[in-house]
Amino acid sequence: MAILLVLFSLLITTPTAPVRVAAASSSAVFFTPQDNFLIGCGSGKAATHSDGRIFITDQNSGKYFSSHGRDIMVSVPSANVPSPIYLSARIFIEEATFTFPMTRPGWHWIRLHFFPLTNNEFDLQNAKFTVTTDTLVLLREFSIKDNNNTNGWFFNEFLVNVTTERLSIKFSPVKGGPAFINAIEVVSAPDILITDTGSTLFPVGQFNGLSTQSYQTMYRLNVGGPELTSQNDTLGRTWALDGQYQAHKELGKNVLVAPTVIKYPEGGSPLIAPQSVYASAVEMGSANVASPNFNVTWNLDIDLAYQYLIRLHFCDIISKSLNDLYFNVYINGKTAISGIDLSTLTGGLATAFYKDFVVNSSMVSSPLSIQIGPWTQGTGAINALLNGLEVLKMNNSVGSLDGEFSVDGKSANGVNKGTVAAVGFAMMFGAFVGLGAMAVKWQKRPQDWEEEE
Ligand SMILES: *[C@@H]1O[C@H](CO)[C@@H](O)[C@H](O)[C@H]1NC(C)=O
Ligand SMILES: *[C@@H]1O[C@H](CO)[C@@H](O)[C@H](O)[C@H]1NC(C)=O
Ligand SMILES: *[C@@H]1O[C@H](CO)[C@@H](O)[C@H](O)[C@H]1NC(C)=O
Ligand SMILES: *[C@@H]1O[C@H](CO)[C@@H](O)[C@H](O)[C@H]1NC(C)=O
Ligand SMILES: *[C@@H]1O[C@H](CO)[C@@H](O)[C@H](O)[C@H]1NC(C)=O
Ligand SMILES: *[C@@H]1O[C@H](CO)[C@@H](O)[C@H](O)[C@H]1NC(C)=O
Repeated sequence: MAILLVLFSLLITTPTAPVRVAAASSSAVFFTPQDNFLIGCGSGKAATHSDGRIFITDQNSGKYFSSHGRDIMVSVPSANVPSPIYLSARIFIEEATFTFPMTRPGWHWIRLHFFPLTNNEFDLQNAKFTVTTDTLVLLREFSIKDNNNTNGWFFNEFLVNVTTERLSIKFSPVKGGPAFINAIEVVSAPDILITDTGSTLFPVGQFNGLSTQSYQTMYRLNVGGPELTSQNDTLGRTWALDGQYQAHKELGKNVLVAPTVIKYPEGGSPLIAPQSVYASAVEMGSANVASPNFNVTWNLDIDLAYQYLIRLHFCDIISKSLNDLYFNVYINGKTAISGIDLSTLTGGLATAFYKDFVVNSSMVSSPLSIQIGPWTQGTGAINALLNGLEVLKMNNSVGSLDGEFSVDGKSANGVNKGTVAAVGFAMMFGAFVGLGAMAVKWQKRPQDWEEEE
């Protein structure tokens, strides 16, 4: 029976990455990014981020910068922010571009840090602007005020596969308003971070081409564990708490083990997610009562105009023996993984595993719902767990992560932005011509028109 179960779980998880036999490699892995641009804006002094990385001054980053506009720097001596990189900003009233030379093609993080500093000249809270690369829209007519952010400071994170010798980041103020930026990161990320293939759901299949998409991080959650900041992740990622997204918090129970016990299978790496992500999980809350039968659910709001890469992180930190935990995973009510047995997939307990799914509006609705629940056909423990969850927005068909228009104004719906204006103008013109024709007709009406009535 056990063998059958193993075979079964192998079969049903075939779209997964190849099964890797465990070879307990572990712990601290360092990654040295070949490209590593950390730009602090608006300050005469280099700023040391909370994770120890040093952001260079405008003066030292001047060779990457170009703008015809006035150079405006603002700073405050202190504020309720987690890092000095938020204490100063550079303001643009004309287009401004940073152009970075790339030494290695491949994945790069682009992180844009914002904190609308109070100053006498500009109301940064009401700033609205567009940020693009040469080929990709990162933020379109982005309004700081509408960002619903409670802290005041925030950053947007993008992951792009750069294949050109230069990467430009252009800030374009929306007419009349200022654009601004507090700090910019353009940093190499390892190749293994995203491979080319993911799984699709309904129908179950393979999605190829992940390596040429661009991504924006929407959610990255350390499920059941503490918040992790860029200090806790070699790649400078942050992992937020998951509690607020759990539909019924009482159904889930946090479990924690020492991060040092977490192993990575051969081919796996702490660069995918650090040990602290796998060392915590949410399991079924009352798993020990007689025949518990429920799911633990996370709900995440998404914009259905885009596709998403959903990365689920698992690590069996609750079983006492191999092949004792089989569970189901659902995405928006449909089975994503049936009877997953982590010990078979990874060759051991406390061993990291992740799986990528690609979804779009034909498969999911908003909120995106991730559920874990027991696989009741088995003889093992009735339980389920989830350790980490990432949701990355993928660019649309015109290369935008924000809105339907491309960098050069083409629309995802096949209409050009210029065309829209032209069509509008043509219609208006048509209307005028029509009116004119009517007027002409009116004037040329037969003299006896009134009598004809
Ligand atoms: C901000 O919150 C409002 C109301 O809760 C919502 O309508 C809006 O879509 C949110 N904006 C963003 C950018 O999330
Ligand atoms: C980036 O994209 C190119 C094709 O445009 C591809 O050859 C390369 O493998 C990708 N890089 C990574 C790290 O996936
Ligand atoms: C994150 O890093 C900070 C600084 O090194 C450390 O104090 C904290 O304990 C770490 N948190 C976790 C959850 O590892
Ligand atoms: C868990 O959720 C799935 C999909 O929403 C549903 O089909 C299944 O019956 C649920 N399981 C339990 C035990 O409630
Ligand atoms: C959603 O993805 C599926 C499979 O990749 C694809 O066939 C379909 O055209 C996509 N639908 C939309 C609306 O993008
Ligand atoms: C995202 O952009 C890439 C090119 O950079 C393109 O190949 C891909 O088709 C785009 N994604 C979608 C969903 O259209």
